Amino acid sequence: MSIISDDNSFKQAQKTETKNPVIKAESFESDKNFENSIRPKSFDTYIGQSALKETLKITIAAAKKRELPLDHLLFYGPPGLGKTTLAGVIAEQMNVPIKITSAPALERPRDIIGILMSLKGGEILFIDEIHRLNKVAEEILYPAMEDFYLDMTTGKSQTVKTLRVPLPKFTLIGATTKAGELSGPLRDRFGIVHRLEFYTDEELAKVITRTAGILDIEITEEGALAIARRSRGTPRIANRLVKRVSDFALVKHDGKITESVANESLDILKIDNYGLDNTDRNLLKLIIEKYNGGPVGIETIAAAIGEDVRTIEDVCEPFLLQAGLIQRTPRGRKVSPACYSHLGYRNIDINEQKSLF
Ligand SMILES: Nc1ncnc2c1ncn2[C@@H]1O[C@H](COP(=O)(O)OP(=O)(O)O)[C@@H](O)[C@H]1O
Ligand SMILES: [Mg+2]
Repeated sequence: MSIISDDNSFKQAQKTETKNPVIKAESFESDKNFENSIRPKSFDTYIGQSALKETLKITIAAAKKRELPLDHLLFYGPPGLGKTTLAGVIAEQMNVPIKITSAPALERPRDIIGILMSLKGGEILFIDEIHRLNKVAEEILYPAMEDFYLDMTTGKSQTVKTLRVPLPKFTLIGATTKAGELSGPLRDRFGIVHRLEFYTDEELAKVITRTAGILDIEITEEGALAIARRSRGTPRIANRLVKRVSDFALVKHDGKITESVANESLDILKIDNYGLDNTDRNLLKLIIEKYNGGPVGIETIAAAIGEDVRTIEDVCEPFLLQAGLIQRTPRGRKVSPACYSHLGYRNIDINEQKSLF
């Protein structure tokens, strides 16, 4: 099969295009202050996810009526869709404090014991990336979640004693990008499990307009929509793009983000109209040019584009799958015919295209 690309070859692309972490959906330490300053604090300002919001409102109202803490909650979905933000909104709504931590910070037993013992009645404990908890931490968490106590052992070999320490009733909110990697027993201990969905362009335009308002950036409705379209259904990306486009608008224009200013700067940032960035394009081009469209194993892809498997699976793939650009098969990843045309490949026989699937 001969494939002719309008674009540079894959190798060339890798050489000349640098990665642009600012527009990825992952959360970076350097962006924490920016994110916190624009994080919605209430259900009114938390845009989209309406079905989830409605169920949560009822759950919260019921817990308040019963004067009991909320059931433990698990949120899952790709990064940047608002899991951490939602935990904060729930705490605000329940009028209780929240402690935020993540599984990699709970490596030693004393880390998790310490945090559990510091909780006050009704308090929310938020554990990010909860699928990465180790076995020991999980075992400590089970009785704490189920019956609100800790089993502590004291003494050595023959004199070892188990001490049962009661804990205040608290709510655990877990967040994960990979629900499938959560152990069964841990997942079963969450009363409520919810998946966060990608946002529509209209919802993202609202997120963008709200963020622009907070940052004192002038933006038109069409400008907001133009950014929304290229934000991969993800509020975190939308917010990062507003900032980038705003810089561009300020330097090259009069500071106002209109549709044409937005499109012009997003083109310069090399974000195409699917919202794909260089990493995504490199991944797709690799499958097309080196593996005839696939299927190809995820480890091979990761090694070839210099990303780790986890980033590809958690950050790049969910959106590429949802956009119909790639497919997961038992033998690896395949690109779709839509992907060929989106990336500007032509002269591909239509029957050959069909035989790819
Ligand atoms: N529903 C929403 N409405 C408005 N902004 C949102 C919403 N969800 C997320 N955001 C914004 O996107 C950014 C990332 O959200 P976050 O909750 O940290 O995502 P996650 O924890 O799922 O990775 C935050 O800065 C937040 O302001
Ligand atoms: Mg988060």
